[in-house]
Amino acid sequence: MRLAGVDYPSRLALGPMAGYTDAGFRRLAREMGLELAFTEMISAKAVVYENEQTFSYAVSHESDHPLGLQLFGSEPEIMALAAQKLAERHPYEILDINVGCPAKKIMSNREGSALMRRPALIFDIVQAVVRAIDKPVSVKMRLGITKNTINAVEIAKVCEEAGASFLAVHGRTSDQFYSGSADWEEIAKVKESVSIPVIGSGDIYTLDDAIEKMEFSGVDGIMVARGVMGNPFLIRDIVDWYTKGKEPESVSWEERVETAKRHFEYIVEDKGMYRALLEFRSQAGKYFSGLRGSAKLRARLSQLESKEQLFTAMESVLKE
Ligand SMILES: Cc1cc2nc3c(=O)[nH]c(=O)nc-3n(C[C@H](O)[C@H](O)[C@H](O)COP(=O)(O)O)c2cc1C
Repeated sequence: MRLAGVDYPSRLALGPMAGYTDAGFRRLAREMGLELAFTEMISAKAVVYENEQTFSYAVSHESDHPLGLQLFGSEPEIMALAAQKLAERHPYEILDINVGCPAKKIMSNREGSALMRRPALIFDIVQAVVRAIDKPVSVKMRLGITKNTINAVEIAKVCEEAGASFLAVHGRTSDQFYSGSADWEEIAKVKESVSIPVIGSGDIYTLDDAIEKMEFSGVDGIMVARGVMGNPFLIRDIVDWYTKGKEPESVSWEERVETAKRHFEYIVEDKGMYRALLEFRSQAGKYFSGLRGSAKLRARLSQLESKEQLFTAMESVLKE
């Protein structure tokens, strides 16, 4: 995969996931060989108002590059100004525009995937951001708002014309949220309709999913999202296959526990113990799904109040 003059032999990107793909998780993902990551979505308005908490979403570790910052918003000038302000404070290589978020709160402000109803506004936003910064601009979109109003091809062409360097397409409509399955046939149509690179997103949980969906759709690369929650090893599987032709190896429970601990420690470094515990309690269980008795363990993990309790609970799986 070649994006804006940079080669990514692994053909893989980590998708933005609000509440999950923070700097700590991305640091872990880089250790698994990840070449390209995107931040959680960042409010352009909050950046322009210089909200300090918002800037923290743009923080990255040294290893965490090339990195795409994802902005959401609906006003071209605000989006352009936010991209510039972020560039002054935080290093990043790609500016990604969110045209896919289906959350009510976002859509009712006419942001996220609600923008898919207004192709002309998408053109203005992309063009304004492209003119404002000297970095490649990408757009992440859905297929459309509903099954009957799929317009990803139209939006893709608009983005290309406005100067976007590449696109990422999540193969669901907005009203599907995250249910049902992603439609890779529609993603293939987008790929055929533009000459800029297209990355496909939706339902990649294994290396086989990645290979199958990439071959089926002809996309330039793929994006993983929910498949890496509690399973960053999926990144290693895909990267090793495309860069070395190496088959995935099964992951031991020792490695799962050690990785979950490392993930937690990275969040502590960035956000402090209190927030790390609060945030990681719900994430920890994902490392142990599939294990006998995992529902009970998840319930236990979600109530823990100290690092010691957390580590003891996670280590208990090694004694079974
Ligand atoms: C909890 C969660 C948060 C997400 N946050 C964002 C986001 O901030 N920006 C975005 O463009 N996509 C976001 N996504 C969408 C993912 O990047 C991805 O496109 C989608 O989940 C489909 O891939 P999957 O089926 O492999 O999970 C989010 C998805 C989830 C599950």
